[in-house]
Amino acid sequence: MNDLRGDAERSARFAGRAIIVTGAASGIGRACALRLASEGADIVAVDLDAAGLTALVDEIAATGRLCERLEGSVVDLGLMDAAIERAVTRFGRLDGLVNNAGIGGPMGRFDRSTPDDFDQMIAVNLRSVWYGTKAARAPMIASGGGSILNVSSMAGLVPNRHHSLYGMTKAAVISLTHHAAMDYAGDGIRVNALCPGPVETPIFEQMRSNLGDDAFESARRQLIRRTLLGRFGQAAEQAAAAAFLLSSEASFITGIALPVDGGWSISDGQTATRPSAPD
Ligand SMILES: NC(=O)c1ccc[n+]([C@@H]2O[C@H](COP(=O)([O-])OP(=O)(O)OC[C@H]3O[C@@H](n4cnc5c(N)ncnc54)[C@H](O)[C@@H]3O)[C@@H](O)[C@H]2O)c1
Repeated sequence: MNDLRGDAERSARFAGRAIIVTGAASGIGRACALRLASEGADIVAVDLDAAGLTALVDEIAATGRLCERLEGSVVDLGLMDAAIERAVTRFGRLDGLVNNAGIGGPMGRFDRSTPDDFDQMIAVNLRSVWYGTKAARAPMIASGGGSILNVSSMAGLVPNRHHSLYGMTKAAVISLTHHAAMDYAGDGIRVNALCPGPVETPIFEQMRSNLGDDAFESARRQLIRRTLLGRFGQAAEQAAAAAFLLSSEASFITGIALPVDGGWSISDGQTATRPSAPD
């Protein structure tokens, strides 16, 4: 049965495919790039972080796959064009795009954010995703179809206090995904969003400098208490869901925003470790 395939068969899901991953030098993007490469994909990795890209390229090379690197900011739309161009010239095709690069941005009461904060959050978390999704269409059609995965957040589905700009951009990424899924369905291109719950990556640690140590630790405890599985997620768990949505196993799935959140979104806020109620 299809859904009971073993690791050996699963490991070829992306053989011969070329996939761009933005924000690939760290956290969830890095885990996605490694997972996709481990299943046969050649990768174009985009990030600001030169050292992180070098480490990723080395790690992917060790698996026998190819990884092209592009250093720069996704705010520069020309970089997204260059990434697509690189996939087509180097690998002859573009099959997948993971619009993952993002920032947490400032935290604070709604009225405290500034127009500059707003513009920066839109440019990094939304405009780049919009542009990548737009620019990938033609080369994906030329490759016989494709799959786009936009990394949103649970914060795009449920508001987080004092994190309005982040939540607004992530909610917009979900709407963008719905609209692109509608317009690209006839082209054989699926477009989905991933909504991670809390994963302890550097972006999450940014909250420490935003909030200070005490408030950060208290927010951390609260997040764990609210997550049904009683822990943070791991980047590799996000990458597993991302790989599924990008793969042909998800061939009838488009336009969804998938929570990968350990039950955070349906939690009643009680601690996950409390004993079950008696029958
Ligand atoms: N970690 C979480 O708890 C969590 C939860 C929900 C959603 N997300 C989302 O997942 C995505 C990845 O986050 P992460 O947790 O892996 O964070 P991370 O900080 O570990 O990785 C983000 C990567 O994006 C890169 N990046 C940032 N701005 C960029 C830019 N302008 N141009 C190019 N690269 C840029 C960074 O250099 C970094 O390598 C983000 O979109 C984030 O909003 C994370």
